[in-house]
Amino acid sequence: MSTLADQFSHDLSTLLRSGALEGSFADFVQLSGKNLEARTRRYDEWRSNRLKHGVWPFSTELQSGPGPEVTVIDEAGKQRTGVNFASQDYLGLAAHAGVRAAAIEAINQYGTHIAGAPVLQGNSSLSLRLQKALGEMVGLEHVVLFPTGWAAGYGVIAALVRDADHVVLDQYAHNCCVQGAMAATRKVHRARHLSTNGLVRHLPRIRAGDAKNAILVVTEGIFSMDGDSPDLAALQSACREYEATLLVDVAHDLGAVGPDGTGSLGLQGLHGKVDLVVGSFSKVFASNGGFVSTSSTAIREYLRPYAPSHTFSNAISPPQSAAVLMALEIVRSVEGEALRQKLHGVAQVLREALTAAGVVCLGKPGPIVPVLLGREALGRIMAALCFDRGVFANLVEYPAVSVGACRFRMQVMATHTPAQAQFAAEVTAWAYQLAKKLLAHPTSAGTAV
Ligand SMILES: Cc1ncc(COP(=O)(O)O)c(C=O)c1O
Repeated sequence: MSTLADQFSHDLSTLLRSGALEGSFADFVQLSGKNLEARTRRYDEWRSNRLKHGVWPFSTELQSGPGPEVTVIDEAGKQRTGVNFASQDYLGLAAHAGVRAAAIEAINQYGTHIAGAPVLQGNSSLSLRLQKALGEMVGLEHVVLFPTGWAAGYGVIAALVRDADHVVLDQYAHNCCVQGAMAATRKVHRARHLSTNGLVRHLPRIRAGDAKNAILVVTEGIFSMDGDSPDLAALQSACREYEATLLVDVAHDLGAVGPDGTGSLGLQGLHGKVDLVVGSFSKVFASNGGFVSTSSTAIREYLRPYAPSHTFSNAISPPQSAAVLMALEIVRSVEGEALRQKLHGVAQVLREALTAAGVVCLGKPGPIVPVLLGREALGRIMAALCFDRGVFANLVEYPAVSVGACRFRMQVMATHTPAQAQFAAEVTAWAYQLAKKLLAHPTSAGTAV
């Protein structure tokens, strides 16, 4: 029979006294004082303390591509090999031979870099073909490319919204849209997560007081933190009723769910029918990069000189365009459908095994399997235990979620096996229960379990 302390390789009483389980990134947002460098030191002390006590799971180093089994080194230098539910490569296309070959061919033809922003000679035949293919896939033919998904979300809002306009965001809208909204206007409204009524409720109120200015409503196809989806048809029709514009960020669902990979929009019968779609290549399409898709030529033309992260940033490189083009082709093929089925099969095994072990998952079946933990202390101990046992997933703390609402987010790939999902669920459930016990009875680390 082992004790709690045996199972937890760290010295729990030292850890509890160290302060490494306390505090959050939120404590260091406000800075004051005239010395910019000195103002950052308090944060660095907090970070170093967490690192020293083994509860700093961020910025780890991958020793290979983001496959289902990887070797990882943490920032303290600890190395582990294990199953990887921390990467975002839902169909496993980053390792696909066809995608790799396309990128290599592009390098051979163009080199590694296009050496210009899109408006200043940064397009290639590959990026132009990609725009066209994406327009077909999303069903909104006019596409503008961005160097990242973040740049796309930020750029489209910064380009289109002015300070008299309103932006209504789901509470969990991604940081790129939140930052874009805050840069564009002070009239930013947040609605309770996933509440159609919550979002829609703002529209008559805003319209009653302001008949002249624009309203942009922002949501996601699958939310990155909770793995759930809004009622997009209800949102789009409310937007039409109040002359608002709907923007849907499909970073996590395009390619990964829906008929022919058309995402939540396809699943909800809205393919090609919403106002603005923003996406990222970094979750399914094996590359950095992002895009905005619209049925309006005028919006496309306006974005090109007025979306700062498109206009003033280098275009995606030829190997990136080539990788995404090939990934798109696979996503829309029979092979893509088979990969999606594998992805959903493994995700289901993971979800069911976690639930059977008493761990509550958020969201609905799909590539994101988030476990809501709440207290950061619980998440930090649990993440350390999982890392030690070779299960890699992401501890999500503020600013990605609110303080006191941390999550252990697992992301599935089509290339995972059901056995890997089963193992990850067992270790995660064990770590969750043990972390809870350790925190509930901090003085009883010697207790037999
Ligand atoms: C919903 C959502 N939108 C946008 C992005 C940004 O995408 P990228 O990583 O391509 O910058 C992310 C990435 O985490 C995301 O989750």
